Amino acid sequence: MSASNIHPIFERMESRHDKEQQLRQRGITVWFTGLSGSGKSTIAIALERRLTERGLFCRILDGDNIRFGINRDLGFSEADRTENIRRIAEVSKLFTQTGIITLAAFVSPTNALRAMAREIIGAEDFAEIYVATPLEECERRDVKGLYQKARRGEIRDFTGISAPFEAPENPTLRIDTTNRPVEEVTDEVLAAIIERITPKNE
Ligand code: ADX
Repeated sequence: MSASNIHPIFERMESRHDKEQQLRQRGITVWFTGLSGSGKSTIAIALERRLTERGLFCRILDGDNIRFGINRDLGFSEADRTENIRRIAEVSKLFTQTGIITLAAFVSPTNALRAMAREIIGAEDFAEIYVATPLEECERRDVKGLYQKARRGEIRDFTGISAPFEAPENPTLRIDTTNRPVEEVTDEVLAAIIERITPKNE
């Protein structure tokens, strides 16, 4: 496809600032990373409720709405995970630049994948929450029964068992959910982002 045939219409579109004023908030992507079963989506859902109570507008992106939709063609090879995260980051960027608080909950197991997401979205619009629940606890929960299958060799390249997970080096926040109530953990995440979603003039 030739870029010269694409004519941006940005000058006719409302700006990000207009959108953020309308929503009375600032857009950001809150990027949750961690093992399967670590609690990413659970925290995102609790945070969504908390934000909505405050009159703030947000959207969760997770495996359920992405891997069954826009990314239904992708699996879990390194190349597919890269394309998965690339598309998710591009979607997150569109939402964020519309002023929406975007809660992205994906395993995103390597530093390279998360660096790509940060690069696409923009560091100033990106908060990284490392849900650091240990493998033993995730496996004990085994909400989807996938760890058992991975141990039996029925799922290949399973993160934490037969595929790597690299801990983020410098996350905005690191949380181990073991024996911690969801509401308490959610408060911590909210405290970590509240200044960045509050309009500067209020
Ligand atoms: S990512 O690595 O590409 O970021 P993503 O978050 O979209 O992964 O999907 C992870 C979810 O898919 C897991 O929570 C689990 O339910 C499911 N899944 C199925 N196969 C695998 C696998 N091989 N590795 C990790 N997760 C898998």
